Amino acid sequence: MSSALCYNILLHCIYIYIYISNNMILFIHNVISKNPTFQELAVYENMSDQVKISHEELERDGFCQNPFFECLIAEVPEEHKSKEGFTIVGYAFYFYTYSTWKGRSQYLEDLYVMPEFRGNGIGKALLSKVTEVGKNKGCVRLQLSVLNWNTPSLDFYAAKGAQDLTVSEGWHFIRFDGKHLDDLAKGAPKN
Ligand SMILES: CC(C)(COP(=O)(O)OP(=O)(O)OC[C@H]1O[C@@H](n2cnc3c(N)ncnc32)[C@H](O)[C@@H]1OP(=O)(O)O)[C@@H](O)C(=O)NCCC(=O)NCCS
Repeated sequence: MSSALCYNILLHCIYIYIYISNNMILFIHNVISKNPTFQELAVYENMSDQVKISHEELERDGFCQNPFFECLIAEVPEEHKSKEGFTIVGYAFYFYTYSTWKGRSQYLEDLYVMPEFRGNGIGKALLSKVTEVGKNKGCVRLQLSVLNWNTPSLDFYAAKGAQDLTVSEGWHFIRFDGKHLDDLAKGAPKN
């Protein structure tokens, strides 16, 4: 786990207490904490080599006047900490987008729950909280992407009522980066 990806910064603290099946109390609040890191989800997705972001960049982009992202963290009480001693056991990382057809929207970049805490309602609680935050800001939809082999997560979202737009509407997920992005920007008309 990269030490560059350790966070310990408190955003506006919104504490929510959710009682789940085994009486574990979940504290979901807006923090970025040091674990689990984004690296953990990237490892799950077999893309750990693609995590290039630094602590400084995340701090700069999440804690500026107009933050580029928001993050909700699921924390369990000390007595339910993970085998490795972590109390932060999951997170949802999202930001706002806009649809010219529908208006205010959210994009869920990451949803992650540590393996030993899965199946306790934490993922659903995080997802519900993200949508509640969005609804309160007038968002009319939440979008996200999932790798095609990740059937547990595709099933998880489908069970919550999500549409698979690749299947229903044929959308492809397109990205520019690196040299191609640089080349495009260099080709911009100058005043
Ligand atoms: C996807 C993930 C966040 C779900 O978190 P979780 O805490 O295990 O899920 P929950 O316990 O909250 O499940 C809530 C509900 O979804 C259902 N569910 C969970 N996994 C499911 C699956 N694979 N298929 C169908 N339903 C599923 C549960 O049965 C439960 O249903 P209920 O509300 O009717 O009781 C978690 O498995 C995870 O971190 N996966 C690895 C990372 C990942 O792939 N993230 C998504 C891509 S960004």
